[in-house]
Amino acid sequence: MGRCPECGAWSTLVEERAAEAPPRGGAIVPSGSAPVRLSDVAAAAVPRIPTGIADMDRVLGGGLVPGSVVLVGGEPGIGKSTLLLQVAARLSERVGSVLYVSAEESARQVRMRADRLDVSAPGLFLLPETSLEAILEAVKAGTFGAIVVDSIQTIASADAPAAAGSVTQVRACAGRLLALAKTTGVPVLLIGHVTKDGTLAGPKTLEHLVDAVLSFEGERFHAHRVVRALKNRFGPVHELGIFEMTGAGLIEVANPSALYLGSGAGGRPGSVVLAGVEGTRPLLLEVQALTVEAKYGSPRRTAIGFDGTRLALLLAVLERHGGMSLSSHDVFLNVAGGAESAEPAADLAVCSAVAGSFRGRALPAGTAVFGEVGLLGEVRAVSDAALRLKEAVSLGFHSALIPAGNAGEAAAFPDLSVVPLRSVEELLERS
Ligand code: TYD
Ligand code: MG
Repeated sequence: MGRCPECGAWSTLVEERAAEAPPRGGAIVPSGSAPVRLSDVAAAAVPRIPTGIADMDRVLGGGLVPGSVVLVGGEPGIGKSTLLLQVAARLSERVGSVLYVSAEESARQVRMRADRLDVSAPGLFLLPETSLEAILEAVKAGTFGAIVVDSIQTIASADAPAAAGSVTQVRACAGRLLALAKTTGVPVLLIGHVTKDGTLAGPKTLEHLVDAVLSFEGERFHAHRVVRALKNRFGPVHELGIFEMTGAGLIEVANPSALYLGSGAGGRPGSVVLAGVEGTRPLLLEVQALTVEAKYGSPRRTAIGFDGTRLALLLAVLERHGGMSLSSHDVFLNVAGGAESAEPAADLAVCSAVAGSFRGRALPAGTAVFGEVGLLGEVRAVSDAALRLKEAVSLGFHSALIPAGNAGEAAAFPDLSVVPLRSVEELLERS
């Protein structure tokens, strides 16, 4: 069929033959076993292999688990090969030797990148190869402590009757590599390309097979890159790894708040510093709002780095409980520096920024804000208040607008002038 009967798009159907059943990856439980009482199962601590890159370990939940398969997805050109070459080099210092399968670039190209990154690990082995069978052969011959495959879409198995990159091939190859990892205990890192709309093309079908899915994200025009776990069988999924792309590869960002905040955040109408938390890491972000009188038609609401629906909700709260007639104004909201925030604790900062722009009033410079806002205009307590305040203090902030429900936790910061708020009305009165 030339046209998909489901979505109506042309030339999107790919032939997939129902040949031999694809290897059942992930089945690490021997068949025919009898039920055992859960409490009788010996609990073993999951051993970890630190990758040597702290932010990577943080996202993985403490390091690579032996025998695990990790899929690292990201848009082309975002820096996946760079990151994993750095990881492979560091890892080889720990596990002896690492095999980097380069199916997209020649050994010389990888060498050039390695020179640029200044990694010269003696335990790092390269294999420019696209044939799965040849890769498995090479793995059998060597004794590698970890394997990186760059990328899963460019390798192909002779057994699977489909083109490289097709769903059939991607699944077949991943299944074989998964079996390899589970039987030998060697961790395997797979690189997968993601299309512009954010789907792991082909690799999407792998998400349930692999142990962890990491997403490598960033804006092309910003130097910072973020690694986050979308799935992790051995750790949390809310941790972030933050890197900066430099001329010599990716470096970990020691102080991400300073990176995102830049200079001069806050202190002007429409600019408010949010004391946020991503995972277990505090992160100060600048929330910017701009309100202008709508010229024609229905007013525009645009949010970058923040959920548009949530913005609409907060504008309704400001209109109803704050008496601000925003329905005749366009509202633009931006989390500066290409960052984003999805936590409810950002609500109060968003309200404060919008109100600041609308009323032309600024918070005093050096003020951090956090708190959830409910539909009744109430300001609700959030988690990790102490963590947020500590980060603000360490970056030189001297005042904070926080939920009254978190005021107890603020007592530990006597140098900070804290304004506890119960409602949006109070926010407008006191700022
Ligand atoms: P790359 O790792 O090849 O991306 P991917 O494998 O995800 O397609 O790198 C992408 C970009 O990073 C490339 O356009 C150049 C840039 N880059 C640097 O800025 N500094 C560096 O040290 C390296 C190696 C790459
Ligand atoms: Mg690449």
